[in-house]
Amino acid sequence: MALPNINPTTTNSWKKLEAHFKEVASLQMKDLFAKDKERADKFTISWEDFYVDFSKNRITDATLQYLLELADEVGLKTAIERQYQGDKINKTEGRAVLHTALRAPADAIITVDGKNIVPEVQAVKEDVKTFTNAVVNGERKGYTGKPFTHVVNIGIGGSDLGPAMVVDALQFYKNQLTTYFVSNVDGDHVNEVIKKLNPETTLFVIVSKTFTTQETISNANTIKKWFLQSANKEDIAKHFVAVSTNLEAVQNFGIHKDNIFPMWDWVGGRFSLWSAVGLSISLAVGYDNYESLLTGAHKMDVHFKNEDFKSNIPVVLGLISIWYNNFFKAESEAVIPYAQYLNQFATYLQQGIMESNGKSIDRNGDPVNYQTGTLIWGEPGTNSQHAFFQLIHQGTKLIPADFIGFTQSLHGNQDHHDKLISNFLAQTEALLNGKTETQVAEEGTKEDIMPFKVFGGNKPTNTIFINKLSPESLGKLIAMYEHKIFVQGVIWNIFSYDQFGVELGKQLANKILKEFNGEESSTHDASTLNLLNHYKNNR
Ligand code: F6P
Repeated sequence: MALPNINPTTTNSWKKLEAHFKEVASLQMKDLFAKDKERADKFTISWEDFYVDFSKNRITDATLQYLLELADEVGLKTAIERQYQGDKINKTEGRAVLHTALRAPADAIITVDGKNIVPEVQAVKEDVKTFTNAVVNGERKGYTGKPFTHVVNIGIGGSDLGPAMVVDALQFYKNQLTTYFVSNVDGDHVNEVIKKLNPETTLFVIVSKTFTTQETISNANTIKKWFLQSANKEDIAKHFVAVSTNLEAVQNFGIHKDNIFPMWDWVGGRFSLWSAVGLSISLAVGYDNYESLLTGAHKMDVHFKNEDFKSNIPVVLGLISIWYNNFFKAESEAVIPYAQYLNQFATYLQQGIMESNGKSIDRNGDPVNYQTGTLIWGEPGTNSQHAFFQLIHQGTKLIPADFIGFTQSLHGNQDHHDKLISNFLAQTEALLNGKTETQVAEEGTKEDIMPFKVFGGNKPTNTIFINKLSPESLGKLIAMYEHKIFVQGVIWNIFSYDQFGVELGKQLANKILKEFNGEESSTHDASTLNLLNHYKNNR
């Protein structure tokens, strides 16, 4: 069955939230803390190794109550059930949405078109395991009999961002293989990577759900050409493997059918790192760590499905985000991990969040009359403190932020970790309390400089404190955001699992490419025509 399709603005709870917003918009969080000694405990969810404090938000008990009513009124519970049981909730593409099935236990039964898909998922996982072990142990060798030392993932979007982010995040757990990612069609990207490779000891993993993506196919062809300068055609079977749903196109590329890891149309690209798309992760950190990543995600799936909404982490975070987006009219959200390992996390989330919920047509096919998907951005702390925090603290824009931190450091350098976490805690405290004129005056600041040193405070943050960065906790964290995306998509009454918005640019680029080669000419606006000619004359 399809998802319920209720315009959220027509619900009673939305109307309550509108009226309530007028009452609470100017409240100061520090007053709310002063009045309610229970606030911090009440607005914290402690689950497994996660401690999620959402008390530093511009919410009251009533706000949360009305938001939870909104979740009920739009049928969120039913929507979650329909997603998990494999209903074709991606209606515009006629597909189920089952990244949760990729991390479900082997004895689960999840049916698509009347067929239990779990055995197939398990079989591919088994193949990933066997292949990973053979490469990592050095049993599987290159064309001159040497074990592999390097792995290159060739893919883009969901076939790159997830694996690249996770491999970077889990580098503490990495084995001897060096992993590179090639994504951009910019030839300088692939050529810079090629410079570092020896064809005899490099394994290439081509990841493309469709196997038609311009960037990936171009990079794969360039690499194949380079490889064939030193190896023979038959050697391709040893060095190239692919992950795709398009088995025919992969074989046409020259990859042996035994070297293809299948995936399914019910896995969206941006939710696919849990499938064989994560092969590079498995190769980089070993299969057991990869399995732990999946276990973590599954634990979050169970939490999301079964936990009461009021203590359900993705639900609460999703609702709070709706509160800022639709009532405070905040345009963006920042994600600030206090962990250098999560350097690529915000970039990864950008695809998940913005490709999913950047929609303006509702599930009835009508234009929405309210805001949908938020802009997402961020960089690790403390670097970000020295880059853009000025604007969050004293700028004119409201930027709700998620602060993600780990209580334990992986290398155990306590001195550094204490400094890191003191900054982590200090920033959310500063954003909450700000700095008053009196405090500034007490520091002996000259009167004319005073206004510049005042901090308004009242800036909302969530603090997601996790014990340790491990494959399992990372799996939980990623799944947490995936489910937050779902919650918001359901409430905004949009389809989160298609991405037609990326097609137009692709089509036009193909047309323009033909014009460079003089194969075609088409009409353009004057600006594009000038730019096109400028390129042709100067390339
Ligand atoms: O950018 C659009 C998109 O379709 C993404 O959704 C997807 O992750 C990416 O392209 C790559 O697609 P493929 O895996 O089919 O090469």
